[in-house]
Amino acid sequence: MTLPKVELHLHLEGAAPPAFVRGLATEKRMDISGIFDARGDYAFRDFWEFLKVYEAATSTLTSPSDYARLTRAVLEESAAAGVIYCETFLSPDFCGGRDLGAWREHLHAIREAADLAERDLGIILRGIVTPIRHFGPDKARETALCAAETAGDFIVGFGLAGDERAGKPKDFCWSFDLAREAGLRLTCHAGEWGGPASVRDAWHDLRVERIGHGVRAIEDLRLVDELAEAGVVLEVCPGSNIALGLYPDWRAHPIAALRDRGVKVTVSTDDPPFFHTTMTREYEQLAQAFDWDDKVFQDIARVSARAAFCDADTRSKILKKLENAND
Ligand code: ADE
Ligand code: ZN
Repeated sequence: MTLPKVELHLHLEGAAPPAFVRGLATEKRMDISGIFDARGDYAFRDFWEFLKVYEAATSTLTSPSDYARLTRAVLEESAAAGVIYCETFLSPDFCGGRDLGAWREHLHAIREAADLAERDLGIILRGIVTPIRHFGPDKARETALCAAETAGDFIVGFGLAGDERAGKPKDFCWSFDLAREAGLRLTCHAGEWGGPASVRDAWHDLRVERIGHGVRAIEDLRLVDELAEAGVVLEVCPGSNIALGLYPDWRAHPIAALRDRGVKVTVSTDDPPFFHTTMTREYEQLAQAFDWDDKVFQDIARVSARAAFCDADTRSKILKKLENAND
């Protein structure tokens, strides 16, 4: 039987299959052929090219109904991999250019698609509003205002994605403070392209409870112990890290070492078609690399459910589903 899974780190545009994006480009007579290789997959050589390809692919998503179609396609894929609860990063930067009215329209369409998918497939979706770090702190403030205005039972979190080398977490304090005051739970990408200092800064300066990736904390064992002690949750995306060349292979990935030292680790796909992965593949590769059995994955799913940003009733529902599947 497929193990039920909980995914906390998934970029909605990053989950768009290349064929889906090509379809939109054809409909809109846009030429984005340069972002694909000869086999039709996304083509990039490193993280910075990846970000460019990501943004070009995203440029084909121009309306709320495009986002509704994407949401349905992504949730069908996730449900097929056994995901019962998913949190996705959504960016008003891409959904309506940070205009509140346009953002509301995009969000309404995404939410409607999510509600239908929950009814048809049983998968639950929640959103984390995410400014893009390399777009700078001023744009992040506008994004934070959109987040604060739409915080509630669907938009449950606020995060920061994009190029970790751009600026400092401190530059984004205003946005994170606003989001926190609006009741949103906080996460931040760090420790992917920056080292342990980047993780420490994101954690301390932005007062986040989860870190996106965070894996390079392993380069400072004192930090690892502090994260474990404080119960900070890492949204680990091993397949993404390996595809982008952060680690040479699955056995070299620090997820098992972090977990063994007491850090709360979770498993996600990040941008699955870009990295030729799915939640099923992440589980299979981790099982093979670290000899992890179902008990380990059941524990990871429970840790993930407890770290989810949803309300208490939704969390109980997910935990119950996980327990029933373990019987
Ligand atoms: N946006 C989409 N995927 C990302 C990643 N892995 N790191 C930072 N920003 C991202
Ligand atoms: Zn990410």
